[in-house]
Amino acid sequence: MTRPITILMNEHRLIEKALGSLETCVVEIEGGLSFERAFARDYAEFLRGYADAWHHGKEEDILFRRMVERGFSTEAGPVAVMLAEHRQGRAFVSAIHGAGLGTGEVTSAEKSAFLTGARGFIPLLREHIQKEDNILYPMSERVLTPAEFETMLSEFEEFERKAGADGTRDGLEALAARLAGAFRPDEARMAAGTPAGCWSRG
Ligand SMILES: [Fe+2]
Ligand SMILES: [Fe+2]
Repeated sequence: MTRPITILMNEHRLIEKALGSLETCVVEIEGGLSFERAFARDYAEFLRGYADAWHHGKEEDILFRRMVERGFSTEAGPVAVMLAEHRQGRAFVSAIHGAGLGTGEVTSAEKSAFLTGARGFIPLLREHIQKEDNILYPMSERVLTPAEFETMLSEFEEFERKAGADGTRDGLEALAARLAGAFRPDEARMAAGTPAGCWSRG
């Protein structure tokens, strides 16, 4: 496997751990735990900073862009589906983020925004990750040349230098670890997750 794809897949594993943690948080709230705005703030911070800016940033600005240069459409087909799912995911994460912004007594609307956002986001991103790991990334390795992956690796490094200059990445990885400690991902639920999907949303 090429180095850039290995990097992206490793990031998927951390994102899945955070999704597992978020799922446990949802299950506990459904079971009677009081919703706290800090939950929404923390998960939104990780999902925005790591899953979206750090990971989807590299996919969109570097890997997908190169696939588009090689003829993949942004209107239909696998890259288009991935881009559409990133956008769909952002809407769910916005709901989670919004649930953490208020002050004063927590409202039931905030709690339900958090639960709705999380319940929408978790399966969406799990399936999305499966599609990338099993279909889109292998496809990119068949289509792009080793030289292109070499260039991409430098672009990843440049991207990470800029995006991670302030220690963002370490902070977000620590946040994921803290969340996974507070709400432990349930391995059985995660494994039951979602089978490799089809391109149904294309
Ligand atoms: Fe993606
Ligand atoms: Fe991804």
